[in-house]
Amino acid sequence: MTAQIIDGKLIAQQVRAEVAAKVAERTAAGKRKPTLATVLVGDRPDSAAYVTSKGKACQELGMGSISEHLPADAAQEQVETLVKKLNADPEVNGILVQLPMPAHINEERVLALIDIEKDVDGFSPINIGRLAQKGREPTFVPCTPYGCIYLLEQAGVQIEGANTVVLGRSNIVGMPAALLLIGKNATVTVCHSRTRDLPGIVRQADILIAAIGKTQMVRGDWVKPGAAVIDVGINSVPDATKKSGHRLVGDVHFDEAKEVAGFITPVPGGVGPMTIAMLMKNTLHAAEIQDP
Ligand SMILES: NC(=O)c1ccc[n+]([C@@H]2O[C@H](COP(=O)([O-])OP(=O)(O)OC[C@H]3O[C@@H](n4cnc5c(N)ncnc54)[C@H](OP(=O)(O)O)[C@@H]3O)[C@@H](O)[C@H]2O)c1
Repeated sequence: MTAQIIDGKLIAQQVRAEVAAKVAERTAAGKRKPTLATVLVGDRPDSAAYVTSKGKACQELGMGSISEHLPADAAQEQVETLVKKLNADPEVNGILVQLPMPAHINEERVLALIDIEKDVDGFSPINIGRLAQKGREPTFVPCTPYGCIYLLEQAGVQIEGANTVVLGRSNIVGMPAALLLIGKNATVTVCHSRTRDLPGIVRQADILIAAIGKTQMVRGDWVKPGAAVIDVGINSVPDATKKSGHRLVGDVHFDEAKEVAGFITPVPGGVGPMTIAMLMKNTLHAAEIQDP
């Protein structure tokens, strides 16, 4: 059996087109463009590239973007003052603080300052707290886990009642993904670096979300036949056939797993494109809340 490939690039394009259409409707009705402010502290090239692509996506969808950049040695107070300024700015609907920030910055304090109605990344303690509580809805769902669930739903995978294994328990991906899945009535096992017999646990999964950042660690014989496999991992491996000298692979050994799984996301072109698409959806949602 060969798995059905879940085309994240195509699904992300559809989400973006829906967002662009709603943005156009709002601006035609005389409302302000939904606007995202990004905050970058320091000069990490990967973070700078992510912030640039988020600004570009805003422009492509007819949304506004404001890019704030502080030096790597910015003081905690400077970052907090900037977030407070963006909270108070009526032009700004969503605030995204690019992580990780330099080590001397207390990220938790910065994230906790973001106005709940502008927390489009969904990482404020209030949003995560609501996600963790039965019967409560977060104002915003963190973008990458939101993208994972959206892909499963678009592929028609039944989440309710499914034995689901989440590999990784980070605040950004694994933990919010597990909470979302519990909210959708899946039975969830969360694995991490201290988990024993990972292959044995993964073999039980009707749905597997892999978010560990370990190159092709999940082998084909770990996968339950017919399972849905969502690969969040982004790992760079040397490849002399590429101009760049490297290529991206996931946490799952795609070629092996696709022979066993029922559904699988590729890397690149799976979860990756969904993250920015869901951020755009959240930014539109922020504008809808603030200016119904
Ligand atoms: N597609 C996207 O848009 C997107 C977005 C975000 C991240 N990512 C990618 O997703 C991956 C995970 O990102 P992250 O930010 O969640 O990473 P992270 O913060 O480094 O967390 C990794 C998690 O995996 C667990 N882990 C590490 N090695 C393991 C092992 N050998 N066996 C079992 N568990 C192990 C860690 O366990 P402990 O908790 O015990 O340390 C931790 O919970 C990375 O490749 C990242 O690049 C992709």
